[in-house]
Amino acid sequence: MEPTAEAIHHTGEIIRAGGLVILPTETVYGLAGDASNPDAVAKIFEAKGRPPENPLIVHIANIEDVRKFVLKWDDRAEKLATAFWPGPITLVLPKSDWVPEIVTAGLGSVAIRMPDHSVALDVILASGTALAMPSANLFMGLSPTRVEHLAPDIVASVELVLDGGPCKVGVESTVVDLTSDHVRVLRPGGVSIEQISRVLGSEVILGSNEVEMRSPGMYLKHYSPKSPLRLVSKIATNECGLTFGTPSVRQIQMPTNPEAYAARLYDVLFQLDKLQPTEILVESPPIDSDWLAIHDRLKKASA
Ligand code: TXA
Ligand code: MG
Repeated sequence: MEPTAEAIHHTGEIIRAGGLVILPTETVYGLAGDASNPDAVAKIFEAKGRPPENPLIVHIANIEDVRKFVLKWDDRAEKLATAFWPGPITLVLPKSDWVPEIVTAGLGSVAIRMPDHSVALDVILASGTALAMPSANLFMGLSPTRVEHLAPDIVASVELVLDGGPCKVGVESTVVDLTSDHVRVLRPGGVSIEQISRVLGSEVILGSNEVEMRSPGMYLKHYSPKSPLRLVSKIATNECGLTFGTPSVRQIQMPTNPEAYAARLYDVLFQLDKLQPTEILVESPPIDSDWLAIHDRLKKASA
């Protein structure tokens, strides 16, 4: 459905009544419900087939609201929110009692983000609450960056889909853990580690300090097309895959700039997957920190 003012108002009503919807954000499409309603959140886990130990991100539209959800909003959080919100960065902080346990999978922390998309922000405001909103894919699958990517089962689980066209960032938000003295990136994403480090004026560590499973973005296999995916240095002209070289029928030439590559990545993997190839080959992008989020997704897709 087109995100007209009327549709957005109606979407707000659906959320207030405990229903689920699909919305565009600047990163990927999200499957959204009222974060304060445990029954709505339970439906999100069910629709995705997501294990209950994987916490969800709470999405807000006003920075003033953030204190409702966290016990402690420190200087680092203030700096990162000021620099990057609305935008593709998620901050993990000690949670308040407002946030139901089911949202955070029983963790003492909550992940919060303000998306940089007018439709998502308008829906949050229309709903009068905050939204629990994972990517709108089935567990382990590719995240949708266009409504055409949505799996029929996911669409069947919601009352309404708002079509905002293609998502401009194309990979998920960067998840930053601020629950300890060290700043840790649990999932690389739309905002780079260098950008975070520059704003904080301090070192940022990549990876969780606990077991890897603490953040499901850290699962070894994730973000995967149905066909097996393999990273190679060069693709032959008769092979199916993503290339930096001359494209043939079943090859897709990718941009050489990381932002443009990220914006196209899931869409081209969806397109190749539809051909049901025995294997999708991907030419390894440059080993460079600007490509970190892309390397992370390709590694997980090929695991
Ligand atoms: O770009 C995005 O972040 C998209 C759009 C829709 O906003 N959402 C998204 O949500 O990617 P999801 O559920 O697919 O991924 C949430 C990530 C997971 O890696 C999860 O482990 C992590 O955030 N996360 C959520 N709460 C956490 C917490 N309390 N502690 C550590 N990691 C957390
Ligand atoms: Mg996801």
